[in-house]
Amino acid sequence: MTSALQQTTDVTAWTGPAPVASIEQYLGRNVHLLPQTNQLRALHTVIRNREASRQDFVFHAGRIIRLLTEAALDLLPFEPYDVRTPVGSTYHGLRFTDGLLAVPIVRAGESMESELRAVIPGIRIGKILIQRNKTTKRPHLYYQALPDDIADRHVLLLDPMLATGGTAVAAIELLLELGVPEEHIVFVNFITVPEGITAVCERFGRVRIVTSAIEERLNENAYMVPGIGDFGDRYFGTD
Ligand code: PRP
Ligand code: URA
Ligand code: MG
Repeated sequence: MTSALQQTTDVTAWTGPAPVASIEQYLGRNVHLLPQTNQLRALHTVIRNREASRQDFVFHAGRIIRLLTEAALDLLPFEPYDVRTPVGSTYHGLRFTDGLLAVPIVRAGESMESELRAVIPGIRIGKILIQRNKTTKRPHLYYQALPDDIADRHVLLLDPMLATGGTAVAAIELLLELGVPEEHIVFVNFITVPEGITAVCERFGRVRIVTSAIEERLNENAYMVPGIGDFGDRYFGTD
């Protein structure tokens, strides 16, 4: 079988922005966009500013990642769970079903780990290292460390940037090859563009994406516009 990784890895260069059809059909069904509140816009305003200090970038990005994390957890399955309250009554509640796994796409995806650990301290964490080739813009898989029982788990795939979609498609293809059903994958993403949404949703109709912003377009360097620049470089201080 030819996988998406083999098809896309360093084979042909990305050929530049191309027109994409409307993404309307995916909104609300495949793509869960955080409510565009004034608070969220204000957080984005800090990190979109090219003059933002690294400290401001990390702090405000962290606040948005917390919102994304909470929204993503809401897409996971729950089961009925009753508890006795202090006044001796029963509260008919819910609890997460077992079997959750977070998989950050290294490097930028690791920026999302700490907020997730803050909410679910014991969460299992796998790793996939995929880097976009700086010239061809195509993804290359370097490393993976994933549990043997991954096929039985719900996976939160973490990557703040969904641009051409090459990296996300390659990562999802790897999860599917390991037996994870599409409907068990929630891609937790910071910002995206119609091209990235289309690349993922056309191919994987049952994968869900949670994101905080949909940008206008890609530029000729495969960066999102208005965008945020290179997320990994700004977050980790390597720019
Ligand atoms: C960035 C980003 C995504 C990818 C998105 O990673 O973190 O993984 O690009 O682009 P795509 O949708 O066009 O594939 P990059 O390879 O630049 O490395 P980094 O994570 O180390 O910043
Ligand atoms: N990776 C980033 O960090 N930013 C983009 O705009 C696209 C890919
Ligand atoms: Mg990356």
